[in-house]
Order: sequence, then structure tokens, then C-alpha cells
Amino acid sequence: MNRETTMPHAWQALSEHRRALGGRTIASLFAEDAQRFAQLSLTWDYWLADFSKQRVTPETIALLIAHARERNLEDWIAALFAGEKVNLSEGRPALHTALRQQNETPLAVAGTDIIPAIRAVQTRMRELTAQLRGGTRVGATGRPLRNVVNIGIGGSDLGPRLVCDALGASRAPGAGGIEVGFVSNVDPEHLTRALVGLDPATTLFIVTSKTFTTVETLANAHSAREWLAKALGGGAALAPHFVAVTSNTEAARAFGVAGRDVLPMWDWVGGRYSLWSAVGLAIAMRCGWEQFVGLLAGAASVDAHFRSAPLEQNLPVLLALVDVWNSRGLGHTQRVIVPYAQALAHLPAYLQQLVLESNGKTVARDGSALDGSAAAALWGGTGSDGQHAYFQWLHQGTQTVPVEFIVPVRAAHPLGDQQNTLVANALAQAQALMNGLSLDAARARLAAAGMDAATVAAQAPYRVCPGDRPSTTLLMPELNARRLGQLLALYEHRTFVEGIMLGVNSFDQWAVELGKALAGPLAAALRDGTGIDGADASTRGLVAHVRALRQQR
Ligand code: F6P
Repeated sequence: MNRETTMPHAWQALSEHRRALGGRTIASLFAEDAQRFAQLSLTWDYWLADFSKQRVTPETIALLIAHARERNLEDWIAALFAGEKVNLSEGRPALHTALRQQNETPLAVAGTDIIPAIRAVQTRMRELTAQLRGGTRVGATGRPLRNVVNIGIGGSDLGPRLVCDALGASRAPGAGGIEVGFVSNVDPEHLTRALVGLDPATTLFIVTSKTFTTVETLANAHSAREWLAKALGGGAALAPHFVAVTSNTEAARAFGVAGRDVLPMWDWVGGRYSLWSAVGLAIAMRCGWEQFVGLLAGAASVDAHFRSAPLEQNLPVLLALVDVWNSRGLGHTQRVIVPYAQALAHLPAYLQQLVLESNGKTVARDGSALDGSAAAALWGGTGSDGQHAYFQWLHQGTQTVPVEFIVPVRAAHPLGDQQNTLVANALAQAQALMNGLSLDAARARLAAAGMDAATVAAQAPYRVCPGDRPSTTLLMPELNARRLGQLLALYEHRTFVEGIMLGVNSFDQWAVELGKALAGPLAAALRDGTGIDGADASTRGLVAHVRALRQQR
């Protein structure tokens, strides 16, 4: 079925609407409409998303929804869940939602129900988790394996790393608990650091790679095996020290992973959408099986909401439409994500892959050149830390960048009044971004603080903040496995909706191949200086300099 539309009438209406909004500030929109917060915020399952500090009105949202209908968004959502080949350039479904399906309703891919295969993998994950946490998985010397190192990169790293940190870092590894480290970078320093203090006799490596061809992952896996072999001797005895998660079973076995320890991935799950699969094994091992189950259940609840809620009350849809308005409608080329939660420290990095690898494209779904901008750049870091770093730029820099505050309301581990202070800081920043500080207000503040008139006149201009800087505040009740599953699924679906609206396929990543293909010949050139005659002068110069520096040693 062709779901593409060529006549975006609603976008025309949105352009006119933007002109009509003119120079009205966000603060003035509040003054004009007493119902603004009620109309421009949405609650669902104790979540609250507040869009009222964005440069939107109820009319903007209505027009965006009309635009989404014009783009056949409802059909696309149905197609995603039904397992249609929404990943057009690779001719595949994108069925990460099946991985967290809570019942046994059959779901066919190429005529085969995939649910039994998912359950079989979950059973094996559970067994492995129980063995490890129960001390019955032993290594080459017969000692129980107690430490886990996940070797993988991109989607084979960022999701489990985020979740392990969010849910596991506050728990002691003792009492059945397992320490999990993550190694992604081909920089030898990464593996070296991860292995400090680990005993080869008690260390298990999970080699996570959908393709099992990723250079970084294979290099680290080989170095890990050498580290084991040096201490324990080589050969088949090392097999218990490895588990693989991959769709390339043959390559994993050839590497030396025992058959039952190769857990499958499927081509209908994209790497950056895969933490719900066996890629989440590290999560189950670090946090416990029940936590992993809670994560899946949380994500499934968002799936049900996304699939059935009308667009007007659909949380991921509204979040995505505001993103599209900010990037395509208002021309913002960046967005900043600020979780006011230390447990979500890895969220910005995770979202960078999810959003930018999905929607950072110049090619439209049909292969033509994209007509309009792609996703805005995404960056960020935890609050309140960011307030003492880049928030200066957010408030007074010359660019306006929409900010997203993600705020768990209740603390997992309360200490005094700290959580209250944290939440107050998030709300204050959103307020300050919108209202800014006028010259008159700055003068009044300084005068009230007792400064003389001359000092007030000299000092006040430095304190002026332009304000009118948009933000969304996403309040969540607390951070636990279920809520984290909801948060990540919200962002997955939001990314899908954004891709549909922008006109890109969110499930391929062809540009990544370009750099990969060039790295091989350059590695050879760095070793022996040959094979780059056709390269540009800059690259040849850099290679020559690297080689010269090495010879100085
Ligand atoms: O960064 C490109 C990419 O292909 C990601 O999409 C993927 O998550 C990552 O590399 C790792 O790939 P693999 O799991 O096949 O090693």
C-alpha cells in the first residue's frame, strides 16, 4: 500500500499559522489564554508532558495533527505493529514491539509466527541469568563466573549500558548480584580499563553484535580472548567464558562460542531498537530477571497506548509533532535533553543513536532527495549539573534551542530535601528560559539588593536574558524498571513518528557504511604507507604524520 502523500495542504496552513504567530512571545501566549497549560499538556498513566512552554498554540497542535493525518500516520502505526516492511530500503519489518508483547497472540513474519522463537530466547536468557547469579556457571578453572563484560557498540551497547546504570548502579553487586562492565570503543584503553581488577577465571564476556562483523566489537572480543588465554590457556576450555548475541550464528561459533550460548537476533529488529531482545542479557544479569520483565512490561504499556490512542491524546505522537514543528516549522537545528536524574546519565548518548541514526538523513523514503530538514541535532546531560555548564549558553547564547526536561518526581533513594531541590531546579530552569530577565527587571533586582544607581546601570545589562526559549517538561512519577521501559518506548515511537513526518525511513543507516568502508584501507596505509595514492592531500598528509610520529618512539 502506498502511504506517501505528495500534497501537504496542512503544511501550507502551518506556514501561514507560523506567520500569524509572528513575534508573540511564549509568555504573551500564556497571558492571552488562561487555559493554555490545560490545553497544551497531556497526562497518561501518571506521566505529564507539558508543551505549554513551547512556541505552539492549540491551533498549532490541531494543524500538526491534520498534517499527520495527511501523512497517513495512523496507517503507518498500524503497519509498524502488524509487521509490514516499514524498513523500506532493506525490505524488513521493524518489530521491536513484538519483543515486549505480553501475550501469545501469533505474529507472522514471512509466514512464521515469531512469538515462540522470542519466548525460547527469553527462556535461555533466564537460564543463563539464573546460572550466573546462582553461581552455577563455571569457567575454565571450575570457579563460578561473577563478572560480566558486554562487548558491543552502538545499539549493542548503549541500551543495556543505560539500563544497567539506571537500574543497577545503586545496588551492591554482592548477594547474587553481578558486576557488568561495557566495552565499545576500539581504543585499546577501553578494554584495558574494563579489565582492571577482574580475574580471568571468573569473567564472562557477552559478545553482542547483530552482524558479528563490526570491527570494533571483533577486535575487542579477540583481545578479550587473548587476555583469558594468557591466564587460563587457550582452546575450547575458554568457551564457558563467552556468550554471543547475534544473527550471525556461524561467525559466533567460529569465534569459539558454544552452540547453546549463541543467542539469536533477528533481522526484523534494528540494532538501536534491540535492548528488548537478548541484547538485554547484560541487563538481566546485572539487575535480575524480574527487572528485565518489568522493563518489557513498561514498554508494552506504551505500545498499547501508541497503537490505540487517538492522535490528539497520543503521547509519543504529540511529542514528535512538537519536534517536527520546532525543526521544520521554526527552523531549530538542535534540541537539548536534560534528565534531572543521575540514573539517566546515559540517556542523551542513547538518544543520540536512536534519533540521529534513525532520522539524520538526506534521502527520503522513496530514495529521492529529502525535501526539507532532517532531525535536529540532539545533545544534553543531566540536571542539575548542566546548570553549571552549558545552561549559560542556553539562557544567553545567540541561538535558541528547545530544551526537554525529564523529571522523575519521587526519589528512588531519598536524602533529606534533595529530591525537592532537584525538581525545583528543573522547573525553575524552564521558567527562566521562557521568561528571561529584562533590563528593567535586572535593574530592579540590583536596586533591591542595595546597589547604588551607577553600579545598577553598569551591571544590569550583563544580567539580561532574552527569554522566549521553548521547552517541554516531561514529569514521570519515579524511575524504576517499568517506568524506564515506558520512557524508552516513548522515545522509540516518537522517533518513528518524526521519521514518518519528515519523510525518512527511520530503520536504515546507510551512511554508517561509508566511513566503515574507508577505515580498512586507511588502517593498512597507517601500517605500511601504501594504497592511498588516490586519497586527498589532507588524508595523505595525516597518514604520513602518524607514521612519522610512530617512528620517533
Ligand atoms: O553504528 C552503525 C551500526 O550499524 C548500528 O546501527 C549498530 O547498532 C552498530 O553499528 C553495531 O552493529 P552490530 O550489532 O552489528 O555490531
